[in-house]
Amino acid sequence: MTAPASNFQSVFPALAYAGLTSARTAQPPLSVAEIQQGIREIGELPLNRARTLPAQAYTSEEFFDWENKHLLRGGWQCVAHVSQIPQPGDFLNLDLLGEPLIVVRGKDDLVRVLSRVCPHRAMDIMPEGFGYDGHGPAEAKPDAAGCGHTRIFLCPYHAWTFELDGQLKACPEMHRADCFVRDDFQLKPFRSETWEGFIFVNLDGQAPLFAAGLPEMAADLAAFRPAEMKLVIAREWDCSFNWKVLVENFMESYHHLGIHHKTLQPMMPARDTWTEQERRHYVRAHLPYKDSVRDEYRAFAERGDFAEDLPPVPGLGDAQKSEWGLFLIHPTFLLATAPDRIIWYRLQPLGPNRLKLLTTTLVPAEVVARENFPHLREKAARLLTEFHLEDMEVCTAVQRGLYASGWQQGRLSHLEMPVWLFHRYLAARIRGVWPTDDQRAAPGQRT
Ligand code: FES
Ligand SMILES: [Fe+2]
Repeated sequence: MTAPASNFQSVFPALAYAGLTSARTAQPPLSVAEIQQGIREIGELPLNRARTLPAQAYTSEEFFDWENKHLLRGGWQCVAHVSQIPQPGDFLNLDLLGEPLIVVRGKDDLVRVLSRVCPHRAMDIMPEGFGYDGHGPAEAKPDAAGCGHTRIFLCPYHAWTFELDGQLKACPEMHRADCFVRDDFQLKPFRSETWEGFIFVNLDGQAPLFAAGLPEMAADLAAFRPAEMKLVIAREWDCSFNWKVLVENFMESYHHLGIHHKTLQPMMPARDTWTEQERRHYVRAHLPYKDSVRDEYRAFAERGDFAEDLPPVPGLGDAQKSEWGLFLIHPTFLLATAPDRIIWYRLQPLGPNRLKLLTTTLVPAEVVARENFPHLREKAARLLTEFHLEDMEVCTAVQRGLYASGWQQGRLSHLEMPVWLFHRYLAARIRGVWPTDDQRAAPGQRT
């Protein structure tokens, strides 16, 4: 293993600073139409001729605005896992694409995603620091991860109150306002869907139904029973790189050879990784264990001594017990399955070169009940930070490269098929369709 967790504080601020200072690009400016044309041309190339996207796709404010409207607000973004809000009244706050949001479980046990913008005079009803000095019900104060519990939402500005479903409950001194209809004022609900325990939101309300496009992926994940898992680790990162840099990094395992040569490469050699056929809504890659690691893991699982390491998820098939799986649901849902855990990344793009990221780990509920769970959790948190720090370094440095005059359009290895599929998705959305709608699905690298 490389970078110990204690390095985080010293390494990371320097990286972030270096990224933020390079926001002026040496690349010639391209219009949104020119960037789109570049992506469309790349989307036509076969895998053995695949190239990287124009640098401006990662640096242009105008192109980010297009993505924001058509891919991000126009698509489904994952905001939470159900285990973060298990009880009625549990809620979680986050800001997504300029929208202050509450994800809340109502008295009716339904999960809703509501705006935090007060319909009176636009106050964020739970700004950071909410709950201080007697403002607002103390029990509603969100913790560091944005989670809290309440019976009611109170706007701290003029004390209007709202039910957990967003309906206005009370508004003092409004009785002289003519034609004031209380039902016209509520915390705006956004369209949301819960799929396999993950809560998704569609901010523009126009995206096609979410779960309908994913039956195969749900079947692939079924053995992990992700809806019954518990999110036990969450760590937030301020990233000075484009959201697509992270998606590409997460999904390809070619870089095990380089940046992860001490952490992931010895377990899952890059050369053995492979990607499934093209799908309309998602990308799926496999990272098989090296033979010796697979045998060791099998022996560990049979010994049944889980004092030092997480027990395997019960009920997994042979393949799932001896590999990691990577999933991307377009455009930003990133999930990795391991034999003993699920790793989920929540992305909150803030601009062409800024991203807020939450890295998380989920385990089966029965594992949380184990006496040694605090120890196992600490080890799992360390592992997540270790290899993510390696990824933070490369992603931050890549973004700097995308601004530089020395940048040139690169070529991809066949091991970067997930990146090529992601680019084909971008090209399809620019054409106004989804991958496989108007072109034959690309075949997988194994059957
Ligand atoms: S802005 Fe919320 S009560 Fe006035
Ligand atoms: Fe990585």
